Amino acid sequence: MGDEMNQNIDNEGQNTGTIKKNKNVKVWQEGAAVKITTGELGGAVAREGFVASLGGAGMTPDELEREIRIAREICPDGEIGVNLMYVAKDFHNVARTVQKLGANFIVLSAGYDSKILNCTGECEDLKLEIIPKVAHPSLALRVLQSGVVKRIMLEGAGCGGHIGFSSIKNFISTEELVRLTFMRFATYLARQVLGKGAPEKEVEAFIEDVKNHREDYRKKYHVPELIAAGGINEDNFQRIIDNGADHIANCLIFTICKESNAHLNWKNMQFQADKRIFFESPVKGMIGSAIKNSFIDKYFELDDTGVYRFKATEKNRQKNGEKIKSDFTDRCVTKCMENDFCLKYSKDYLHPMCIFHRLEETAVEGNVDDGIVFTSENLNYIQKVAKVNISAKEVIDYIKKYTYGTTN
Ligand SMILES: Cc1cc2nc3c(=O)[nH]c(=O)nc-3n(C[C@H](O)[C@H](O)[C@H](O)COP(=O)(O)O)c2cc1C
Repeated sequence: MGDEMNQNIDNEGQNTGTIKKNKNVKVWQEGAAVKITTGELGGAVAREGFVASLGGAGMTPDELEREIRIAREICPDGEIGVNLMYVAKDFHNVARTVQKLGANFIVLSAGYDSKILNCTGECEDLKLEIIPKVAHPSLALRVLQSGVVKRIMLEGAGCGGHIGFSSIKNFISTEELVRLTFMRFATYLARQVLGKGAPEKEVEAFIEDVKNHREDYRKKYHVPELIAAGGINEDNFQRIIDNGADHIANCLIFTICKESNAHLNWKNMQFQADKRIFFESPVKGMIGSAIKNSFIDKYFELDDTGVYRFKATEKNRQKNGEKIKSDFTDRCVTKCMENDFCLKYSKDYLHPMCIFHRLEETAVEGNVDDGIVFTSENLNYIQKVAKVNISAKEVIDYIKKYTYGTTN
């Protein structure tokens, strides 16, 4: 894609192999909840020419407004957006605020529908770019078919926070997600252009041509650009681009920067931990990626699928023939989720827990043993290449080296 030039890059002894110069690749700093990737980090990242996405989940509209203003003050003209959960009750209000303050885009995490993609109905007044996050090639194809989206974020199992797969056995790596999505798009185009009954050989030749002339096909058929996210680093970057990604997004490595709002205890924990675990989140029972701490030890237990689940599940109670009462006392005060996913979940499982509260407790308060510490597959990688409170500029220079072969 674009201008490609072979270069060998020596990153302090890291064996990076042959890197192609991809000057059209944009690198994103993706959003992290709760209140981790805020205005100071976003502004610093955008000032260096990367795309910044503030983590909006778990912030009130006033808090978010303040953070966007901070980012815009640091970098008035850079590409800055906000990551928001579409399932949040106040989504529309927050989205309008975000637009009014000059954000360039909204990354939609946790759901989307045709109203938001097409900006119709109550979304009619939203004119900024909407970028849906998806974790499956079929969903990406549906977004392509909507015909209105310019960029899609593909989040593979390597990502941090909530992972968009229902079980570990369904996990798709970021590399594979990009490859499958690219192939799905190319096959769809082939069928559209050549007709449904086209011979397999012609379809294969068409797909090969799409691979070799991505830019031409994108323009001609309005194919959305693919932003890959989840555990991307210098070891897999080139394969991800070769598999069909146009841009990449990183999150964890930016969360430990000095401009990140995360508490020092939280940042240090990312350096002390040696592996991530998967746990069952109260948000619609989704799987989250976290560091194992005393909180997980106390309230969760590992099931036979490799997921840490609340101890007081229906399954467990039946097995033990007794009610397990927990000393979890979080009570919902905001009812922030459309359909009250987490409340319903709490009722079914008799185990109330507000994920936002438990994320904020660790990331903002620094009580890293009394809540959830999200992390990603890049946990070990960041320990190798960065240090706590590294500057965003240093991280960006490092990424530029293996992405563009230069720090400029
Ligand atoms: C600490 C942390 C918090 C995250 N919070 C959110 C979030 O609130 N919303 C979201 O859509 N994604 C969230 N993510 C996922 C990231 O936005 C991103 O897509 C992914 O983690 C990229 O992979 P990397 O962290 O390995 O670079 C979070 C990730 C981390 C590590």
